[in-house]
Amino acid sequence: MWLFKEMCTSVVRLDGKTVVITGANSGIGKETARDFYGRGARVIMLCRNLEQANEAIEDIKNNPPSRINKDKYQSNAGQLVTYSLDLSSLENVRECAKNLLMKEAFIHILVNNAGVAMLPYEKTKDGIEMTFQVNYLGHFLLTLLLLPKMQLSSPSCRIVNVSSFSYMFGDIYFDDINQENSYTSYRGYFQSKLANILFTKELAHRLKKADIHGINVYSLHPGLIPTKITRNFSNTLFPGATFIYNFLTWLLFKSPEEGAQTTIYCSVDEKTANETGLYYSDCNVNIPRWRARDDQYAKNLWDISCKLLHLEPEENLNTFLQTVSRQML
Ligand SMILES: NC(=O)c1ccc[n+]([C@@H]2O[C@H](COP(=O)([O-])OP(=O)(O)OC[C@H]3O[C@@H](n4cnc5c(N)ncnc54)[C@H](OP(=O)(O)O)[C@@H]3O)[C@@H](O)[C@H]2O)c1
Repeated sequence: MWLFKEMCTSVVRLDGKTVVITGANSGIGKETARDFYGRGARVIMLCRNLEQANEAIEDIKNNPPSRINKDKYQSNAGQLVTYSLDLSSLENVRECAKNLLMKEAFIHILVNNAGVAMLPYEKTKDGIEMTFQVNYLGHFLLTLLLLPKMQLSSPSCRIVNVSSFSYMFGDIYFDDINQENSYTSYRGYFQSKLANILFTKELAHRLKKADIHGINVYSLHPGLIPTKITRNFSNTLFPGATFIYNFLTWLLFKSPEEGAQTTIYCSVDEKTANETGLYYSDCNVNIPRWRARDDQYAKNLWDISCKLLHLEPEENLNTFLQTVSRQML
């Protein structure tokens, strides 16, 4: 497995581009921010803890990605900005989107990266199972609210959804979406990661159908990486699980910088410029397994997501986005 460490080799610059990344203060999100900053982008880091976000900014400014010389990095770098986002509150997602739409002229790339894993059962104050909301539903809403700004910023816009290969063990529990009757920490995570892939597929389909060009959508598995995502493993899986996962991934798999490469590839590489709706792993297209390829599953997920947000699903994406903005902003 340690052979699968493809790096994004594109040297494309992002001068004049605005990139939004959720969960950019840590792990894969922070490494993605570092790369985009080095390419000259205005990098907007959406984080729930602004103190940690500012620490990450200092780290990113002072330390280039491993393959780049420090002087060259700093003289060609872009800007780093933080906004507050807590995906466990739909009100906060709306507030964050409102701020972005008001203050930012453009959004060219949106990376839906933030995530939690293996949580004990909990509902958000919106009444949604926590992992489903943070990993998927909050990003679904954020994306819908930012899409009109991306339309104004297109062509060459991209939306990147960070999923996980563990989607393949998951299902969407349409009759029990909050998993009140079937929750285990891993089932909650798998459902949310399958949702990331199905959302990618359905959004790409709806953009095409609405003749909205110049916004491509991607989902991906980043690899196995020792990050803070494992913080609950020992509590909910088995004692020592956090240590074991982090030790094995550190030894055999990827560093956070390596783990960010497929996200970077989907976000900037010229090779993916004409692709949309696909799933990637190790900087390559990967054909996902059954449920993640199911058109009806993807449509049903879109519909149930609208229902959870009290939105009436509409076939025409353009009018739907207008409705979402009217009702949610
Ligand atoms: N690491 C792996 O092996 C692996 C494997 C497959 C997929 N992934 C995916 O990769 C993505 C990034 O994870 P990572 O490994 O880099 O983990 P990480 O270091 O824990 O980063 C997760 C980020 O999400 C943020 N976040 C968590 N809850 C949030 C909330 N309610 N609102 C806003 N932000 C929130 C975290 O903020 P705080 O710092 O404030 O908690 C952190 O910035 C996730 O989607 C994960 O599912 C990771």
